Amino acid sequence: VTISVVILAAGQGKRMRSSRPKVLHRLADCSLLEHVYRTARGFAQSQIHIVYGHGGDAVREALGHLDVHWVEQPMQLGTGHALMQALPGIPDDATVLVLYGDVPLISLETLTALVGAAGEGVGLLTVELEDPAGYGRIVRDTLGNVRRIVEEKDATRDEIAIREVNTGMMAAPARWLRTALERLGNNNAQGEYYLTDVIEMAVADGVAVNAVRAQSVMEVMGVNDRAQLATLERHYQLEQARALMLAGITFRDPARFDLRGSLQSGQDVVIDVNVVLEGAVKLGHRVSIGPNAVIRDAEIGDDVEILANCVIEDAVIGAGARIGPYSRLRPQTRLAAGVHIGNFVEIKKSNVGEGSKINHLSYVGDAEVGRNVNIGAGTITCNYDGASKHRTTIGDDAFIGSDTQLVAPVTVGAGATLGAGTTLAQDAPPGKLTLSRAPQVTVERWQRPTKKPK
Ligand code: UD1
Ligand code: CA
Repeated sequence: VTISVVILAAGQGKRMRSSRPKVLHRLADCSLLEHVYRTARGFAQSQIHIVYGHGGDAVREALGHLDVHWVEQPMQLGTGHALMQALPGIPDDATVLVLYGDVPLISLETLTALVGAAGEGVGLLTVELEDPAGYGRIVRDTLGNVRRIVEEKDATRDEIAIREVNTGMMAAPARWLRTALERLGNNNAQGEYYLTDVIEMAVADGVAVNAVRAQSVMEVMGVNDRAQLATLERHYQLEQARALMLAGITFRDPARFDLRGSLQSGQDVVIDVNVVLEGAVKLGHRVSIGPNAVIRDAEIGDDVEILANCVIEDAVIGAGARIGPYSRLRPQTRLAAGVHIGNFVEIKKSNVGEGSKINHLSYVGDAEVGRNVNIGAGTITCNYDGASKHRTTIGDDAFIGSDTQLVAPVTVGAGATLGAGTTLAQDAPPGKLTLSRAPQVTVERWQRPTKKPK
Protein backbone atom coordinates (compact mmCIF):
# COMPACT_ATOMS: atom_id res chain seq x y z
CA VAL A 1 0.00 0.00 0.00
CA THR A 2 0.94 3.60 -0.50
CA ILE A 3 1.48 5.46 2.70
CA SER A 4 0.35 9.05 2.59
CA VAL A 5 2.17 10.75 5.40
CA VAL A 6 0.56 13.97 6.60
CA ILE A 7 2.80 16.08 8.83
CA LEU A 8 0.79 18.62 10.82
CA ALA A 9 2.83 21.78 11.15
CA ALA A 10 0.40 24.68 11.12
CA GLY A 11 0.51 25.46 14.83
CA GLN A 12 2.08 28.69 15.92
CA GLY A 13 4.26 27.56 18.79
CA LYS A 14 3.72 30.60 21.01
CA ARG A 15 5.70 29.17 23.89
CA MET A 16 8.91 29.24 21.86
CA ARG A 17 8.72 33.06 22.14
CA SER A 18 10.25 33.31 18.72
CA SER A 19 9.70 35.17 15.48
CA ARG A 20 10.45 31.91 13.70
CA PRO A 21 7.79 29.21 13.30
CA LYS A 22 8.36 26.46 15.84
CA VAL A 23 8.96 23.67 13.32
CA LEU A 24 11.94 25.58 11.91
CA HIS A 25 13.81 25.51 15.22
CA ARG A 26 16.73 23.18 14.97
CA LEU A 27 17.75 19.98 16.65
CA ALA A 28 21.29 18.81 15.82
CA ASP A 29 21.34 21.56 13.19
CA CYS A 30 18.34 20.19 11.28
CA SER A 31 14.87 21.71 11.60
CA LEU A 32 12.30 19.80 13.65
CA LEU A 33 10.12 19.41 10.59
CA GLU A 34 12.95 18.02 8.47
CA HIS A 35 13.69 15.39 11.13
CA VAL A 36 10.11 14.15 10.77
CA TYR A 37 10.35 14.35 6.99
CA ARG A 38 13.56 12.31 6.90
CA THR A 39 12.02 9.61 9.06
CA ALA A 40 8.88 9.52 6.89
CA ARG A 41 11.08 9.08 3.82
CA GLY A 42 12.08 5.75 5.29
CA PHE A 43 8.85 4.17 3.99
CA ALA A 44 9.47 2.54 0.64
CA GLN A 45 6.26 3.79 -0.95
CA SER A 46 5.21 7.06 0.50
CA GLN A 47 4.09 10.51 -0.45
CA ILE A 48 4.48 13.26 2.09
CA HIS A 49 2.12 16.15 2.73
CA ILE A 50 2.95 19.03 5.03
CA VAL A 51 0.10 21.10 6.45
CA TYR A 52 1.42 24.57 7.12
CA GLY A 53 -0.26 27.68 8.34
CA HIS A 54 0.99 30.33 10.69
CA GLY A 55 4.27 31.75 9.38
CA GLY A 56 3.86 29.23 6.64
CA ASP A 57 5.69 31.17 3.96
CA ALA A 58 8.83 31.04 6.09
CA VAL A 59 8.39 27.28 6.45
CA ARG A 60 7.94 26.73 2.72
CA GLU A 61 10.87 28.97 1.93
CA ALA A 62 13.21 27.32 4.41
CA LEU A 63 12.21 23.80 3.39
CA GLY A 64 11.49 24.30 -0.30
CA HIS A 65 13.99 21.55 -1.11
CA LEU A 66 11.85 18.85 0.48
CA ASP A 67 10.01 16.49 -1.85
CA VAL A 68 6.56 17.12 -0.43
CA HIS A 69 3.07 18.27 -1.24
CA TRP A 70 2.49 21.55 0.60
CA VAL A 71 -1.02 22.10 1.95
CA GLU A 72 -2.13 25.35 3.46
CA GLN A 73 -4.39 25.51 6.49
CA PRO A 74 -5.25 29.22 6.52
CA MET A 75 -6.86 29.16 9.96
CA GLN A 76 -5.93 26.80 12.75
CA LEU A 77 -9.28 25.28 13.56
CA GLY A 78 -7.93 22.08 15.08
CA THR A 79 -6.02 18.90 14.23
CA GLY A 80 -9.04 17.33 12.47
CA HIS A 81 -9.47 20.42 10.31
CA ALA A 82 -5.73 20.38 9.55
CA LEU A 83 -5.83 16.80 8.31
CA MET A 84 -8.96 17.54 6.25
CA GLN A 85 -6.97 20.08 4.20
CA ALA A 86 -4.59 17.34 3.01
CA LEU A 87 -7.14 14.66 2.16
CA PRO A 88 -8.14 15.91 -1.33
CA GLY A 89 -4.60 15.14 -2.49
CA ILE A 90 -4.63 11.60 -1.12
CA PRO A 91 -5.87 8.53 -3.06
CA ASP A 92 -8.69 6.46 -1.55
CA ASP A 93 -6.65 3.29 -1.33
CA ALA A 94 -3.78 4.86 0.64
CA THR A 95 -3.08 4.45 4.32
CA VAL A 96 -2.89 7.88 5.92
CA LEU A 97 -0.19 8.28 8.57
CA VAL A 98 -0.53 11.41 10.69
CA LEU A 99 2.65 12.85 12.21
CA TYR A 100 3.43 16.10 14.02
CA GLY A 101 6.06 18.50 12.74
CA ASP A 102 7.12 19.30 16.30
CA VAL A 103 7.75 15.69 17.38
CA PRO A 104 11.17 15.21 15.83
CA LEU A 105 12.50 11.95 17.25
CA ILE A 106 9.76 9.52 16.23
CA SER A 107 11.41 6.36 14.94
CA LEU A 108 10.72 4.51 11.72
CA GLU A 109 10.43 1.23 13.68
CA THR A 110 7.57 2.60 15.77
CA LEU A 111 5.82 4.06 12.74
CA THR A 112 6.16 0.78 10.89
CA ALA A 113 4.57 -0.97 13.86
CA LEU A 114 1.81 1.64 13.88
CA VAL A 115 1.01 1.18 10.19
CA GLY A 116 1.09 -2.60 10.73
CA ALA A 117 -1.33 -2.33 13.65
CA ALA A 118 -3.73 -0.23 11.59
CA GLY A 119 -4.20 -2.99 9.03
CA GLU A 120 -7.56 -2.24 7.44
CA GLY A 121 -8.56 -0.19 10.50
CA VAL A 122 -7.11 2.55 12.67
CA GLY A 123 -3.74 2.39 14.39
CA LEU A 124 -3.23 4.69 17.34
CA LEU A 125 0.13 5.47 18.93
CA THR A 126 -0.13 5.88 22.69
CA VAL A 127 2.28 6.22 25.59
CA GLU A 128 1.98 5.92 29.34
CA LEU A 129 3.16 8.99 31.22
CA GLU A 130 3.93 9.64 34.89
CA ASP A 131 2.36 13.05 34.40
CA PRO A 132 -0.25 13.00 31.63
CA ALA A 133 -1.22 16.68 32.08
CA GLY A 134 -2.19 18.42 28.87
CA TYR A 135 -2.61 15.31 26.76
CA GLY A 136 -5.68 13.60 25.39
CA ARG A 137 -6.50 10.50 27.46
CA ILE A 138 -7.11 7.05 25.99
CA VAL A 139 -10.44 5.71 27.24
CA ARG A 140 -10.71 1.92 27.13
CA ASP A 141 -13.62 -0.35 28.04
CA THR A 142 -13.48 -3.13 30.65
CA LEU A 143 -12.12 -5.52 28.02
CA GLY A 144 -9.27 -3.14 27.33
CA ASN A 145 -10.54 -2.05 23.90
CA VAL A 146 -10.01 1.60 22.98
CA ARG A 147 -13.36 3.42 22.96
CA ARG A 148 -12.38 7.02 22.40
CA ILE A 149 -9.95 9.81 23.18
CA VAL A 150 -10.95 12.60 25.49
CA GLU A 151 -9.06 15.90 25.55
CA GLU A 152 -8.04 17.03 29.01
CA LYS A 153 -10.21 20.13 28.81
CA ASP A 154 -13.27 17.97 28.11
CA ALA A 155 -12.42 15.15 30.54
CA THR A 156 -14.20 14.08 33.71
CA ARG A 157 -12.21 13.68 36.92
CA ASP A 158 -11.98 9.90 36.41
CA GLU A 159 -10.74 10.34 32.86
CA ILE A 160 -8.13 12.86 33.96
CA ALA A 161 -6.62 10.13 36.16
CA ILE A 162 -5.87 7.97 33.09
CA ARG A 163 -2.15 7.89 32.37
CA GLU A 164 -2.25 6.36 28.90
CA VAL A 165 -2.26 9.30 26.51
CA ASN A 166 -2.63 10.06 22.83
CA THR A 167 0.68 10.89 21.13
CA GLY A 168 -1.32 12.35 18.23
CA MET A 169 0.19 9.96 15.70
CA MET A 170 -2.21 7.59 14.00
CA ALA A 171 -2.74 5.59 10.83
CA ALA A 172 -6.04 4.99 9.04
CA PRO A 173 -7.40 4.07 5.60
CA ALA A 174 -7.96 7.20 3.50
CA ARG A 175 -11.38 6.15 2.19
CA TRP A 176 -12.90 5.73 5.65
CA LEU A 177 -11.01 8.70 7.11
CA ARG A 178 -12.65 10.97 4.52
CA THR A 179 -16.11 9.96 5.69
CA ALA A 180 -15.12 10.36 9.33
CA LEU A 181 -13.60 13.83 8.97
CA GLU A 182 -16.74 15.03 7.17
CA ARG A 183 -18.71 14.16 10.29
CA LEU A 184 -16.47 16.06 12.73
CA GLY A 185 -18.00 18.82 14.78
CA ASN A 186 -16.42 21.43 16.99
CA ASN A 187 -18.79 21.27 19.91
CA ASN A 188 -16.16 20.95 22.63
CA ALA A 189 -14.30 22.98 25.24
CA GLN A 190 -11.92 24.52 22.68
CA GLY A 191 -14.36 24.92 19.78
CA GLU A 192 -11.95 22.99 17.56
CA TYR A 193 -12.31 20.17 15.07
CA TYR A 194 -10.53 17.42 17.01
CA LEU A 195 -8.89 14.68 14.99
CA THR A 196 -9.14 12.57 18.11
CA ASP A 197 -12.93 12.34 17.68
CA VAL A 198 -12.48 9.96 14.76
CA ILE A 199 -11.60 7.19 17.23
CA GLU A 200 -15.09 7.12 18.68
CA MET A 201 -16.50 7.15 15.11
CA ALA A 202 -14.34 4.18 14.16
CA VAL A 203 -15.68 2.21 17.10
CA ALA A 204 -19.26 3.13 16.07
CA ASP A 205 -18.57 2.24 12.41
CA GLY A 206 -17.13 -1.14 13.38
CA VAL A 207 -13.68 -0.14 12.13
CA ALA A 208 -11.01 -1.82 14.29
CA VAL A 209 -8.89 0.45 16.49
CA ASN A 210 -5.53 -0.96 17.53
CA ALA A 211 -3.33 0.93 19.93
CA VAL A 212 0.45 0.63 19.78
CA ARG A 213 2.67 1.75 22.63
CA ALA A 214 5.66 3.89 21.76
CA GLN A 215 9.05 2.31 22.51
CA SER A 216 10.28 5.31 24.44
CA VAL A 217 8.79 8.48 25.83
CA MET A 218 11.41 10.61 24.08
CA GLU A 219 10.36 9.58 20.60
CA VAL A 220 6.84 10.89 21.12
CA MET A 221 7.79 14.07 22.97
CA GLY A 222 6.79 17.30 21.29
CA VAL A 223 8.68 20.54 21.43
CA ASN A 224 6.64 23.36 22.91
CA ASP A 225 9.37 25.51 24.44
CA ARG A 226 13.13 25.87 24.32
CA ALA A 227 13.64 23.83 27.48
CA GLN A 228 11.95 20.83 25.85
CA LEU A 229 14.02 21.43 22.73
CA ALA A 230 17.21 21.24 24.81
CA THR A 231 16.02 18.05 26.51
CA LEU A 232 15.43 16.37 23.15
CA GLU A 233 18.73 17.65 21.76
CA ARG A 234 20.69 16.14 24.66
CA HIS A 235 18.79 12.87 24.40
CA TYR A 236 19.44 12.70 20.66
CA GLN A 237 23.15 13.47 21.11
CA LEU A 238 23.56 10.76 23.75
CA GLU A 239 21.83 8.24 21.50
CA GLN A 240 24.16 9.13 18.64
CA ALA A 241 27.22 8.85 20.88
CA ARG A 242 26.00 5.47 22.13
CA ALA A 243 25.60 4.17 18.58
CA LEU A 244 29.07 5.48 17.66
CA MET A 245 30.61 3.78 20.69
CA LEU A 246 29.06 0.49 19.61
CA ALA A 247 30.58 1.12 16.19
CA GLY A 248 34.06 1.41 17.71
CA ILE A 249 34.67 5.02 18.72
CA THR A 250 36.03 5.86 22.18
CA PHE A 251 34.58 8.96 23.81
CA ARG A 252 36.30 10.43 26.84
CA ASP A 253 32.81 11.61 27.78
CA PRO A 254 29.84 10.79 25.54
CA ALA A 255 27.81 13.47 27.34
CA ARG A 256 30.15 16.12 25.98
CA PHE A 257 29.94 15.39 22.27
CA ASP A 258 27.75 16.87 19.55
CA LEU A 259 27.23 15.53 16.07
CA ARG A 260 25.18 17.86 13.89
CA GLY A 261 25.27 15.94 10.67
CA SER A 262 26.77 12.63 9.68
CA LEU A 263 29.91 10.85 10.79
CA GLN A 264 31.64 8.05 9.00
CA SER A 265 34.48 6.62 11.03
CA GLY A 266 37.22 3.99 11.06
CA GLN A 267 38.25 1.91 14.05
CA ASP A 268 39.97 2.97 17.25
CA VAL A 269 39.11 6.61 16.91
CA VAL A 270 39.36 8.54 20.17
CA ILE A 271 37.35 11.69 20.73
CA ASP A 272 38.04 13.92 23.71
CA VAL A 273 35.51 16.19 25.43
CA ASN A 274 33.56 19.08 23.88
CA VAL A 275 34.05 18.07 20.30
CA VAL A 276 31.47 19.35 17.80
CA LEU A 277 31.20 17.68 14.39
CA GLU A 278 29.01 19.29 11.72
CA GLY A 279 27.98 18.52 8.16
CA ALA A 280 29.58 15.42 6.68
CA VAL A 281 32.68 14.29 8.56
CA LYS A 282 34.77 11.28 7.61
CA LEU A 283 37.45 9.94 9.94
CA GLY A 284 40.02 7.26 9.11
CA HIS A 285 41.34 4.62 11.49
CA ARG A 286 43.05 5.64 14.73
CA VAL A 287 42.26 9.33 14.38
CA SER A 288 42.44 11.19 17.67
CA ILE A 289 40.61 14.44 18.26
CA GLY A 290 41.58 16.61 21.21
CA PRO A 291 39.24 18.64 23.40
CA ASN A 292 37.19 21.57 22.05
CA ALA A 293 37.61 20.82 18.36
CA VAL A 294 34.96 22.07 15.92
CA ILE A 295 35.08 20.16 12.64
CA ARG A 296 32.74 20.70 9.72
CA ASP A 297 32.65 18.88 6.36
CA ALA A 298 36.07 17.30 6.59
CA GLU A 299 37.81 14.15 5.49
CA ILE A 300 40.52 13.12 7.90
CA GLY A 301 42.95 10.31 7.08
CA ASP A 302 44.27 7.41 9.17
CA ASP A 303 46.39 8.19 12.24
CA VAL A 304 45.77 11.91 12.10
CA GLU A 305 46.19 13.64 15.43
CA ILE A 306 44.11 16.74 16.05
CA LEU A 307 45.22 18.44 19.24
CA ALA A 308 43.11 20.70 21.45
CA ASN A 309 41.12 23.72 20.26
CA CYS A 310 41.23 23.36 16.49
CA VAL A 311 38.58 24.74 14.12
CA ILE A 312 38.43 22.90 10.81
CA GLU A 313 36.04 23.50 7.91
CA ASP A 314 35.90 21.97 4.45
CA ALA A 315 39.34 20.40 4.66
CA VAL A 316 41.00 17.18 3.58
CA ILE A 317 43.77 16.00 5.87
CA GLY A 318 46.18 13.26 4.80
CA ALA A 319 47.24 10.25 6.84
CA GLY A 320 49.50 10.83 9.84
CA ALA A 321 49.14 14.60 9.83
CA ARG A 322 49.32 16.48 13.12
CA ILE A 323 47.14 19.54 13.58
CA GLY A 324 47.06 21.98 16.50
CA PRO A 325 46.76 22.87 19.23
CA TYR A 326 44.89 26.02 18.17
CA SER A 327 44.98 25.59 14.40
CA ARG A 328 42.37 26.93 12.03
CA LEU A 329 41.84 25.18 8.70
CA ARG A 330 39.47 27.13 6.52
CA PRO A 331 37.60 26.02 3.38
CA GLN A 332 39.48 24.30 0.59
CA THR A 333 42.46 23.34 2.66
CA ARG A 334 44.11 20.17 1.38
CA LEU A 335 46.91 18.74 3.49
CA ALA A 336 48.91 15.75 2.26
CA ALA A 337 50.18 12.94 4.47
CA GLY A 338 52.43 13.76 7.40
CA VAL A 339 51.87 17.51 7.35
CA HIS A 340 52.27 19.37 10.65
CA ILE A 341 50.20 22.45 11.33
CA GLY A 342 50.85 24.07 14.69
CA ASN A 343 49.48 26.68 17.05
CA PHE A 344 47.88 29.86 15.78
CA VAL A 345 48.28 28.86 12.17
CA GLU A 346 45.50 29.66 9.69
CA ILE A 347 45.34 27.90 6.33
CA LYS A 348 42.82 28.78 3.61
CA LYS A 349 42.30 27.48 0.06
CA SER A 350 45.76 25.95 -0.07
CA ASN A 351 47.40 22.65 -0.90
CA VAL A 352 50.24 21.61 1.37
CA GLY A 353 52.48 18.77 0.18
CA GLU A 354 53.62 15.68 2.03
CA GLY A 355 55.73 16.18 5.13
CA SER A 356 55.61 19.99 5.11
CA LYS A 357 55.51 21.89 8.39
CA ILE A 358 53.86 25.16 9.33
CA ASN A 359 54.22 25.09 13.04
CA HIS A 360 53.76 28.55 14.53
CA LEU A 361 51.74 31.73 14.06
CA SER A 362 51.35 31.78 10.29
CA TYR A 363 48.76 32.63 7.66
CA VAL A 364 48.86 30.63 4.45
CA GLY A 365 46.08 31.47 1.98
CA ASP A 366 45.68 30.78 -1.74
CA ALA A 367 48.95 28.87 -1.76
CA GLU A 368 50.47 25.84 -3.39
CA VAL A 369 53.06 24.46 -0.98
CA GLY A 370 55.29 21.58 -2.11
CA ARG A 371 56.65 18.63 -0.14
CA ASN A 372 58.98 18.85 2.85
CA VAL A 373 58.71 22.59 3.02
CA ASN A 374 59.43 24.26 6.35
CA ILE A 375 57.58 27.50 6.95
CA GLY A 376 59.02 29.45 9.87
CA ALA A 377 57.11 31.18 12.63
CA GLY A 378 55.13 34.27 11.74
CA THR A 379 55.17 33.74 7.98
CA ILE A 380 52.32 35.34 6.06
CA THR A 381 51.09 35.08 2.50
CA CYS A 382 49.97 38.57 1.52
CA ASN A 383 47.33 37.16 -0.79
CA TYR A 384 45.01 40.15 -1.01
CA ASP A 385 45.92 43.49 -2.50
CA GLY A 386 42.67 45.13 -1.50
CA ALA A 387 40.98 44.24 -4.77
CA SER A 388 41.88 40.69 -5.75
CA LYS A 389 43.34 37.51 -4.33
CA HIS A 390 46.66 36.19 -5.68
CA ARG A 391 48.42 32.87 -5.36
CA THR A 392 51.70 31.96 -3.73
CA THR A 393 53.67 28.95 -4.94
CA ILE A 394 56.38 27.34 -2.85
CA GLY A 395 58.48 24.52 -4.33
CA ASP A 396 59.51 21.26 -2.66
CA ASP A 397 62.13 21.41 0.12
CA ALA A 398 61.99 25.18 0.40
CA PHE A 399 62.85 26.73 3.76
CA ILE A 400 61.00 29.92 4.61
CA GLY A 401 62.67 31.90 7.40
CA SER A 402 60.58 33.25 10.24
CA ASP A 403 58.54 36.41 9.87
CA THR A 404 58.54 36.34 6.09
CA GLN A 405 55.89 38.06 4.02
CA LEU A 406 55.21 36.46 0.67
CA VAL A 407 53.64 39.22 -1.44
CA ALA A 408 51.49 37.34 -3.95
CA PRO A 409 51.56 36.55 -6.77
CA VAL A 410 55.00 35.16 -6.03
CA THR A 411 56.90 31.90 -6.44
CA VAL A 412 59.60 30.36 -4.28
CA GLY A 413 61.67 27.84 -6.21
CA ALA A 414 62.32 24.28 -5.04
CA GLY A 415 65.03 24.05 -2.40
CA ALA A 416 65.18 27.83 -1.99
CA THR A 417 65.93 29.39 1.38
CA LEU A 418 64.44 32.71 2.46
CA GLY A 419 66.17 34.63 5.21
CA ALA A 420 64.20 35.59 8.29
CA GLY A 421 62.22 38.76 7.97
CA THR A 422 62.16 38.78 4.18
CA THR A 423 59.45 40.67 2.34
CA LEU A 424 59.39 38.66 -0.86
CA ALA A 425 57.91 40.72 -3.67
CA GLN A 426 59.68 38.97 -6.55
CA ASP A 427 60.19 35.29 -7.23
CA ALA A 428 62.98 33.53 -5.32
CA PRO A 429 65.08 31.25 -7.51
CA PRO A 430 65.43 27.57 -6.65
CA GLY A 431 68.30 26.33 -4.50
CA LYS A 432 69.54 29.77 -3.43
CA LEU A 433 69.33 32.02 -0.38
CA THR A 434 67.15 35.05 -0.93
CA LEU A 435 66.58 37.70 1.69
CA SER A 436 65.48 41.29 1.96
CA ARG A 437 66.77 42.97 5.02
CA ALA A 438 67.92 46.47 5.91
CA PRO A 439 71.58 46.37 6.92
CA GLN A 440 72.03 46.17 10.69
CA VAL A 441 73.65 49.15 12.37
CA THR A 442 74.83 49.86 15.90
CA VAL A 443 74.79 53.53 16.99
CA GLU A 444 77.85 53.98 19.18
CA ARG A 445 77.17 57.26 20.99
CA TRP A 446 73.41 56.87 21.46
CA GLN A 447 72.02 57.27 24.96
CA ARG A 448 68.62 56.48 26.39
CA PRO A 449 66.65 59.59 27.26
CA THR A 450 66.28 60.15 31.01
CA LYS A 451 63.68 62.10 32.97
CA LYS A 452 64.86 65.58 33.96
CA PRO A 453 64.84 66.07 37.77
CA LYS A 454 62.26 68.75 38.83
C1 UD1 B 1 -3.17 17.05 20.45
C2 UD1 B 1 -4.22 15.96 20.62
C3 UD1 B 1 -4.03 15.30 21.98
C4 UD1 B 1 -2.64 14.76 22.11
C5 UD1 B 1 -1.61 15.82 21.87
C6 UD1 B 1 -0.24 15.25 21.79
C7 UD1 B 1 -6.18 16.70 19.38
C8 UD1 B 1 -7.52 17.33 19.47
N1 UD1 B 1 -5.52 16.56 20.52
O1 UD1 B 1 -3.42 18.03 21.44
O2 UD1 B 1 -4.98 14.25 22.14
O3 UD1 B 1 -2.45 14.19 23.41
O4 UD1 B 1 -1.86 16.47 20.59
O5 UD1 B 1 0.69 16.29 21.69
O6 UD1 B 1 -5.74 16.32 18.31
N2 UD1 B 1 -1.98 21.64 14.29
C9 UD1 B 1 -2.25 22.11 13.02
N3 UD1 B 1 -3.40 22.81 12.80
C10 UD1 B 1 -4.29 23.04 13.78
C11 UD1 B 1 -4.01 22.59 15.09
C12 UD1 B 1 -2.86 21.87 15.30
O7 UD1 B 1 -1.46 21.89 12.09
O8 UD1 B 1 -5.32 23.68 13.50
C13 UD1 B 1 -0.74 20.87 14.51
C14 UD1 B 1 0.21 21.56 15.45
O9 UD1 B 1 1.16 22.31 14.70
C15 UD1 B 1 0.90 20.40 16.15
C16 UD1 B 1 -0.17 19.33 16.15
O10 UD1 B 1 -1.08 19.67 15.14
O11 UD1 B 1 2.02 19.93 15.46
C17 UD1 B 1 -0.85 19.19 17.50
O12 UD1 B 1 -1.46 20.39 17.81
P1 UD1 B 1 -1.55 20.90 19.29
O13 UD1 B 1 -2.29 22.17 19.32
O14 UD1 B 1 -0.23 20.86 19.92
O15 UD1 B 1 -2.47 19.76 19.92
P2 UD1 B 1 -2.78 19.52 21.42
O16 UD1 B 1 -3.87 20.44 21.84
O17 UD1 B 1 -1.54 19.52 22.19
CA1 CA C 1 0.97 19.93 21.72
